[in-house]
Amino acid sequence: MEQLNQLITSQAILLFCYLLGSISFILGLKMLSHPDSARKGNLVAAVGMTIAIVATIFLYQKGGEHLHNYGWIFSGLIIGSVVGTMAAKKVQMTAMPEMVSLFNGMGGACAMLISIVEFHNNANPSMGMLLIIVLGMMIGTISFAGSIIAWGKLNGRIKDKTLPAGQIINFILLGAIVVMAVLLMGNFIDAPWLMYGILLAAALYGILFVMPIGGADMPVVISLLNSFTGVAAAFGGFLYNNPVMLTGGILVGSAGTILTILMCKAMNRSLKNVLIGSFGGAKAGPAGAAKEQGNYKEISLNDTAVLMAYAQKVMIIPGYGLAVAQAQHACHELEKVLEDKGVEVIYGIHPVAGRMPGHMNVLLAEADVPYEKLLEMEDANDQMGTTSVVLVLGANDVVNPAAKDDPGSPIYGMPILEAEKAEHVIVNKRSMKPGYAGIENDLFFRPKTSMLFGDAKKVLQDLVSELKQV
Ligand code: TAP
Repeated sequence: MEQLNQLITSQAILLFCYLLGSISFILGLKMLSHPDSARKGNLVAAVGMTIAIVATIFLYQKGGEHLHNYGWIFSGLIIGSVVGTMAAKKVQMTAMPEMVSLFNGMGGACAMLISIVEFHNNANPSMGMLLIIVLGMMIGTISFAGSIIAWGKLNGRIKDKTLPAGQIINFILLGAIVVMAVLLMGNFIDAPWLMYGILLAAALYGILFVMPIGGADMPVVISLLNSFTGVAAAFGGFLYNNPVMLTGGILVGSAGTILTILMCKAMNRSLKNVLIGSFGGAKAGPAGAAKEQGNYKEISLNDTAVLMAYAQKVMIIPGYGLAVAQAQHACHELEKVLEDKGVEVIYGIHPVAGRMPGHMNVLLAEADVPYEKLLEMEDANDQMGTTSVVLVLGANDVVNPAAKDDPGSPIYGMPILEAEKAEHVIVNKRSMKPGYAGIENDLFFRPKTSMLFGDAKKVLQDLVSELKQV
């Protein structure tokens, strides 16, 4: 009787810990949606995950037995924590997408391994259980293989490659997975190798599906693969009847899906176009390439400093070049010098500026730029008409008027920051080369616009020195 009481108490505590874990994930995710609370949100979710893991290790019971193999469990935990912490501390902001991809791949690999272990642990699984095992393995393996390819492409180890008839091969692989799954679940042939056949086909599919996608389109694909990992983890939750794993998986799956859709919307592209289109490639689009653009004019550092010092309001529009130049601290310095001179300084943030969601927000937060100075696109556009000087800092596509004016442009329909509505536009970049979409930018040739060439960090540092003398 006492034993039974003990069991009930420990299972109640376990469930309570899972409830705490689930609530912390939901709260953490909610807090992640605002820059002010994002760090705390991450911490809240991490604490919830720790509670869930510790509770599972010490309280989980199956058939009256606790977990054992503590040596293995803690070795894995310690190695994983050390590697994860070091990687996260060392990573450069520009290499963040590749780290996210690698970590996501590890999640997919876990789901794959869980399915393999449970396949061998269950001598006579029901058809429902087998379905969960197969789906978890298939989705987890695709996510693992795809994420590793994405990681390799982002750090330049793997080049984009389109196989002739790649789509057909992918179709055949998916068909083979379905046939093998049906044979396995229907018990038509008693062959455990079918499970490994599915694994192999899913791994090949993951590789071939990500291989041709333009390297710069990777953030969208990573977000999609992220949602796959979430779904695969949710299947693990079903398998172990584990509510916190289920909640975590569903949250990751749905958040990844929503983020994928939002990124596609902000680039005005369909997911299909990202997955099989050519926009991410380096080639210039036909509309932009063929156009005769006319002349652009340059501005000196000194003239820029004078223009800004006597401006009422300056809006900085940062883009990918800010990240490349690591110019966020110099940018904050410029903002402070201008404010000392009584100039109002705000930032216009485009949702897909840079190469990953929230790229500019994270960079500017690193340099202690106050969050309230960062305006989202709609608010920034509302203030454009009353802005004296817009400083476009290493941005290109996100201020390209072709998105509004040129129906033939590959970015037509993408919402942009309407820089040309300000009184003066100063564009800092190193050359007249196009940005990510590979197309010319008419804004650079407009009468209001002046080009300030050079590396963003160096230009900003020199500009700050000039301003101090004005
Ligand atoms: P881009 O259009 O890529 O333009 C960046 C510009 O920065 C380039 O034209 C480059 O010109 C300049 N640059 C590079 N290094 C520089 C440096 N050291 N100093 C000064 N300038 C430098 O960037 P954007 O305007 O931020 O637009 C982002 C693009 O990425 C969009 O097309 C978006 O759809 C795409 N994208 C974004 C995401 C997310 S989630 N953010 C995901 C996938 C794709 P020079 O070479 O002449 O210097």
